[in-house]
Formats: sequence, structure tokens, C-alpha cells
Amino acid sequence: MQARQFLLASRPTGAPTPENFALRTVELPPLESGQVLVRNEMLSVDPYMRPRMDDRPSYVPPYELGEPLTGGAVGVIIASESPDRPVGARVRHSYGWRDLAIASARETELIPDTEFPLSYHLGVLGMPGLTAFAGLTEVGGIREGDVLFVSGAAGAVGSLAGQFGRLLGASRVVGSAGTDEKATLVVDQLGFDACFNYRNGPVREALRAACPDGLDLYFDNVGGDHLGAAIEQLRLGGRIAVCGMIADYNRPPDERGIKADVFQIIAQRLSIRGFISTDHLALRPTFLETVGGWLRDERLTYRESITEGLENTPTAFIEMLRGGNIGKAVVRL
Ligand SMILES: NC(=O)c1ccc[n+]([C@@H]2O[C@H](COP(=O)([O-])OP(=O)(O)OC[C@H]3O[C@@H](n4cnc5c(N)ncnc54)[C@H](OP(=O)(O)O)[C@@H]3O)[C@@H](O)[C@H]2O)c1
Repeated sequence: MQARQFLLASRPTGAPTPENFALRTVELPPLESGQVLVRNEMLSVDPYMRPRMDDRPSYVPPYELGEPLTGGAVGVIIASESPDRPVGARVRHSYGWRDLAIASARETELIPDTEFPLSYHLGVLGMPGLTAFAGLTEVGGIREGDVLFVSGAAGAVGSLAGQFGRLLGASRVVGSAGTDEKATLVVDQLGFDACFNYRNGPVREALRAACPDGLDLYFDNVGGDHLGAAIEQLRLGGRIAVCGMIADYNRPPDERGIKADVFQIIAQRLSIRGFISTDHLALRPTFLETVGGWLRDERLTYRESITEGLENTPTAFIEMLRGGNIGKAVVRL
């Protein structure tokens, strides 16, 4: 049997381009004992994949040149050499960027429910959802009445962080996004109290106008000038859950950083904490029960940007980094 899979053909310099990717057809070996063959139905494209394309150590090893890319995927088992993973079972795993995947049973996670679409397990019920939930609760320590600011508010994590924040007790939720259309959608469809387009002027001024009395918790998806502005706008005892720094992902480390009055960290006794979603896997049962309940009760608006066809996976990834997506960016095969 043959599979089609994307390799990292070259490492991007700055923003990735289609030339950094190559689609190859490979012959799959027969399954070994304990393995399954999965027909992928939906693939995830995520910002963290961009830093992994650089040859630099991080919390996950870099992608190897000439090797198949990996990433979140959901699909159906079409052949099995594992008693725990029957043919027909739906699973989530990390062998994305391809149409067919061989995985050992322990590398796959069964998706038992049929209540929600499969793609939700790459988004609201998957890694981005857990990231938003853990970032607000275990990292940001959200409290009743908090004024919450979420950057990347129209994206996968941000759109959920703002809505979860409201349901977890925030009294005011402010967002930022990269177009006027997104900013309007974030307020009208996702229920944020305010959202500004960060491209329309200095973030510091827009944030001050949106939170004139300051803020208590900043859920940071962006870094850079957003992080600097939040440090200056947080009130006494304010907290920052540092989730992502997408503004810097296309830049080398020596060009990253913030320009801000960092003395405010002392004056306002701020807590700034970075986190990785996989540090919070113990929270998953609570997360699934809580967020599953909110979905069932129709208390969440969940958006996806779906790209059709395996061959368009690099385009979906490149466009997501540029802001082409609203909600979770996924590829349907
Ligand atoms: N710590 C963790 O475990 C963890 C887990 C998941 C995600 N993350 C991080 O969370 C952030 C959001 O991830 P996601 O999966 O939800 O992606 P996403 O927000 O759905 O997509 C990325 C978005 O980033 C925005 N963006 C791109 N360049 C930007 C810039 N220079 N300044 C401001 N915004 C920019 C774009 O929206 P606009 O049109 O609004 O610019 C784009 O839509 C990323 O930084 C990611 O690395 C962290």
C-alpha cells in the first residue's frame, strides 16, 4: 500500500514558503504486531510547527530535513495488529502531514464519543482547547471578576480562551486580532466585550483604551508589543499566562524581545508564567467534562477554517501563520 506524506525539504528563512515542503509517495511496510494503519481524515496545522522547522533545540526536537513532518491528526483505523484498536475505531495521533499513517497502538488515543465532529478533537476538545483551559486555570489562576485580555482572539486558542474566561468568571473580556473583520467577529459572535485590530495603531494605546481601569489577567498568544503593553496595563497582583509568541516565530532569537516599562513587574507584583499544554495532561478529564458540557449546552461558539486536500497542507500552514484562519486551522482529506 502506498501513502503520500510531506517532508521538510528545506528550513525556512523567515516566513515559510511552499518550496520548504515536498510531497512524496512511499511504499508502506506490512504492519508489525501491536501496530495499526490509520486513514487520516483531518490534519492539524499549528504555529508550534514553525519553530520546529529551525535547527535549534527547544522543548520539542527540531524536524529533521528530508524526514516526514509530524503533527496532530484524527482518522479511522483501517487495518490492525492490536487487540485494543479494532478496525473502524476513531483515533487521534501525531502522524499528520500524510494520508495514511502506521502507528503503534500506544501512540494512538481512542476517540470514544460520536457526539462531536472528529475535527473537534484537534481543536476545542484537543490540544488548543486544553491549552486555553489550563492557561486560564492552572497557569493564570483566573478569578471571579477578573478583567481578562486575550491576544490572537480570533485564532484557535484565543477564541476559546476568551469564551472559557467568561464562563470561568471574568467580568470583562478584551481581545486583539489582525483585521477589522476579525475584531468585529470576536465581539459579535464570540461574545468578547471589546476587540481591537492591533494593526491599526500602537497596541499600548489600544489596550489602554479598551481597559481604562487596567486588567488582571493576560493570556498571551503573541508576545512582542502585546506582552509589553500588557505588562504596563496590569493592575496590582496581575498575572500573565504566556502561551505563545507568534510575533517572533519567523525571527532569529537575537531579534526577539519586548520594549516595555518592565519595572511595572515589581511595582505591580506581577506573575509571568510560561507553559506548555502537555505539562497539564492531568487536567484532561476535568477539561473534557467541563468543555464537553459547555458545547452540549451550546454555551460556546466554535469556529474552524477548513482547507481541502492533503496537497494543500503547506498552504494551510503558511496561511495560518499569516492570519488567514478564523478559529482552528485544519485540513480535510
Ligand atoms: N504553550 C502551548 O502549549 C501552546 C499550545 C497551542 C498554541 N500555542 C501558541 O498559542 C498561539 C496561538 O496558537 P493557535 O494554534 O491558536 O493559532 P491561531 O491563533 O489559530 O493562528 C495563528 C494566528 O496568529 C496570528 N498572528 C500571526 N502573526 C502575528 C503577529 N505578528 N502578531 C500577532 N498575531 C499574529 C494570526 O491572527 P491575526 O490575524 O489575528 O494576526 C493567526 O491567525 C501561538 O503562539 C501558539 O504557538 C501554545
